[in-house]
Amino acid sequence: MSKRNLIFLIGYRGSGKTTVARLLAEKLGWKWLDADAVLEERAGKSIRQIFADDGETAFRDLESAVLRELCTLEQHVIATGGGVVLREENRACLKHGAVIWLKAPADILWQRMQNDATTRERRPDLAQGGLAEIEEMLRVRERLYDKCQTLTVDVGSRTAEEAVEEIAARLNR
Ligand code: S3P
Repeated sequence: MSKRNLIFLIGYRGSGKTTVARLLAEKLGWKWLDADAVLEERAGKSIRQIFADDGETAFRDLESAVLRELCTLEQHVIATGGGVVLREENRACLKHGAVIWLKAPADILWQRMQNDATTRERRPDLAQGGLAEIEEMLRVRERLYDKCQTLTVDVGSRTAEEAVEEIAARLNR
C-alpha cells in the first residue's frame, strides 16, 4: 500500500460503492468522496439532466476531468461512477491508487437498484433499462473492472459492513 494512500472503488451501479467508501474511510481515518457527487456539484445539475441536456459524451468528458483531479488526492477513499473504466485515460488515472472492485451478479445489482430511489431519480438509463441493460453492460465492463482492480471483493453475498471488514483485512490495516 505504499503509493496507495488513495483508494478507488469501482463496480457497477448498485454495488454499494458510496456506502463502502464512507465506511472504509471511517475505518482508515481518511476522507471519502463520491466522484459522481463532485461532478454534479460542479455541473450544477444531476447526471440524469446532464445526459438529457448535453449527452453521454459530455458527461464522460466531465467524469474524466473530475477523475484527473481526484487522483491527486491523498488519504481518500473515492467512489467512482460505474462507467469510469470505459476510457483508457481514466484507467490510467486509477493507477494512482489501490483499485477495489465491488463485484456482484447482475440479478443482485438489479434488485438493489430497484430499492434505491436516489439512483432511480439521478441516474439515466444507459440502454434498454432493467436487468437486460445490466447484463449487457457487464458483458463489456467486467473485463475492464478486472483489468483495473488490484483487489476484488464479492459484495453479492456481503453487506457493506462485511465488505469493509474484508477489504481492511486484505489491505492488512
Ligand atoms: C454510470 C453510472 C453512474 C453514473 C452515470 C453513468 C454508468 O454512477 O456515473 O449515470 O455508466 O454505469 P453509479 O455507478 O454511481 O450509479
